Amino acid sequence: MEEIIVNFISDMGSVKTVYAYSGQTLLDVAQSNGLDIEGACEGSMACATCHIVVDKEWYSKLPATSDEEKDMLDLTYGLTNTSRLGCQIVITKDLNGLTVKLPSNIYNLL
Ligand code: FES
Repeated sequence: MEEIIVNFISDMGSVKTVYAYSGQTLLDVAQSNGLDIEGACEGSMACATCHIVVDKEWYSKLPATSDEEKDMLDLTYGLTNTSRLGCQIVITKDLNGLTVKLPSNIYNLL
């Protein structure tokens, strides 16, 4: 199966480059590579703990955000113009090189 490169940038700026496969969600990719992203509802769009910030260059290449996803994003801490839910982004070969940032975890600040 074709490997697709995804770059995750931590809130401290370090980059982790991993391989993904078509059909995986970005949440799956992050979790299977040990990245700190919760995904509490396992993709049923009920938690927003899979919030990620997409690199500006890549944001417009993703399929449009659904109304349900927009509603959930509105509840997200640290929302940006390029925020998405990681569980709603399905990897395709067109996303080879996709770069996203993991927002800082609010709980780490307490
Ligand atoms: Fe809950 Fe994405 S995992 S909204």
